[in-house]
Amino acid sequence: MADWWKKAVVYQIYPRSFKDSNGDGFGDLNGVIEKLDYLRNLGIDALWLSPVYQSPQKDNGYDISDYRKIDPRFGTNEDMYRLLEEAHLRGIKIVMDLVVNHTSDQHFWFQESRKSKENPYRDYYFWRDPKPDGSEPNNWGSHFSGSAWTFDQRTGQYYLHYFAREQPDLNWENEKVRREVYDLMRFWMDKGVDGWRMDVIGGISKFTDFPDYKETGGQKYVIGKYHANGPRLHEFIQEMNREVLSKYDCMTVGEANGSNIEDAKKYTDPRRHELNMVFSFDHMDVDRQKGTPAGGWALKPFDLIELKKILSDWQRELAENAWNTLYFENHDQGRVISRYGNDTTYRVECAKAFATILHGLKGTPYVYQGEEIGMVNCDYDLKDYDDLAIHNAFHELVVENKILTKDEFMNAVRRVGRDNARTPMQWNDGMNAGFTGGTPWLKVNPRYKEINVSQALNDPNSIFYYYKELIRLRHTHDVFTEGSYELLLPDDSHIFAYIRRCESESLLIVANISECEEHFEDQTEEWKLLLSNYKDSPLSPGNMTLRPYEAAIYHHIL
Ligand code: NOJ
Repeated sequence: MADWWKKAVVYQIYPRSFKDSNGDGFGDLNGVIEKLDYLRNLGIDALWLSPVYQSPQKDNGYDISDYRKIDPRFGTNEDMYRLLEEAHLRGIKIVMDLVVNHTSDQHFWFQESRKSKENPYRDYYFWRDPKPDGSEPNNWGSHFSGSAWTFDQRTGQYYLHYFAREQPDLNWENEKVRREVYDLMRFWMDKGVDGWRMDVIGGISKFTDFPDYKETGGQKYVIGKYHANGPRLHEFIQEMNREVLSKYDCMTVGEANGSNIEDAKKYTDPRRHELNMVFSFDHMDVDRQKGTPAGGWALKPFDLIELKKILSDWQRELAENAWNTLYFENHDQGRVISRYGNDTTYRVECAKAFATILHGLKGTPYVYQGEEIGMVNCDYDLKDYDDLAIHNAFHELVVENKILTKDEFMNAVRRVGRDNARTPMQWNDGMNAGFTGGTPWLKVNPRYKEINVSQALNDPNSIFYYYKELIRLRHTHDVFTEGSYELLLPDDSHIFAYIRRCESESLLIVANISECEEHFEDQTEEWKLLLSNYKDSPLSPGNMTLRPYEAAIYHHIL
């Protein structure tokens, strides 16, 4: 069916933390298969699997050494084919992660490439001479700290890596590289894969003159405009669309790093034949300071007005000939209720309130594993975190450059560190939260006794059933998919309210994103209550007092 993804809700699985079936402490594909009925019960339409290909796991699978092989830690190719079959039997589609901005340094292409300047694979990557003083070819920084260039003794040149040094960037200027990528995409699509989430797709076209950043803000290495949106980006994506995507009924979502609304329109305008939708980042930065030497690790208080403005701008600007993704969580972000809300006294209300404001919007919603039971951030010591981004940043910001104190840094890690989302999925209140019979690769969040799937399934008022209802409503009412968007009370710092309208029906979505009581009224239509997160929310919003994190959806049929 064309455009099935517009009415779909996608569930993201981070396989190493989802369910371990063989006791090695590491989630796997058979674990995912075990839980397909749970996911069908939730009602989602598609699963996005973070990478499961063969990988040294320096960046948890985002460093791939063989694109056609499943990593033995996750299972076998046969397990993957069985997952496709079992998911399809349940009407669930499978979206894989396409990580082709870079490979692992253990990939055959890179192993060859580094051998000599004449090697046929040399041009699969970016190799450049040092500056006359022996330093890096330019002052570009890596997202995982330090320079984006690593010197390789063997040939006396540097290679480029936007992420870890074990993740060398592919050279998309080389047509052979592009052919290789299209081939591996066909390989999986011919096996039945239904779509792609495209990792850092905004980075695949490079500014190949590699200019230094002029404005450094006093930093040695800079990350900025040259790291994304290179001159041939859209040409490459259009080629990929022509060569592969257009031949299949598939969905595509790009991770549009460094992109603004105008860029997103280019990616997603169907007339341009690129991608269906992209992940943007603006709304995930409203609790951190941008452009400081501490990078994403300098926090600021959450600002609801800013969040509303960003989401509303994207809603309005992408209303026609474009499409939004809707997400608050993924494997790179702290849990939303711990960052932007309340994960203690009002944890349940707050999780439902954030779900309401997100799922009421126009676009395709993404639910990240554990979000549907209100999982929260973890509060560990530095040694208990696994993420190389955390450890590298600690070294650079605290140890070497003393930009942050250890306490400031740990506060930031506990709020926005990626491992907050990567702790094992909490299935029950038994050993290791039912995730594994062995030793989990990352400590289980100690709050699993209170927050787990089995508790949620036994409680009719749980966050799980609220999500289930939101998903069901999206599937039944076209206004969620098609309706226009109008923000109410843009300057209110506690209430997020908006109206969605289409020809036959309208919705009023209202949520109090605070711990105070707030007054709200709207009499523009004859509203009737459709869903709310308090048992006794008013049946119409004529004149209501919103309790802490109270959220409701009102409906009007024309
Ligand atoms: C974005 C992914 O979501 C993240 O987890 C990864 O570390 C980088 N891209 C590099 O692939």
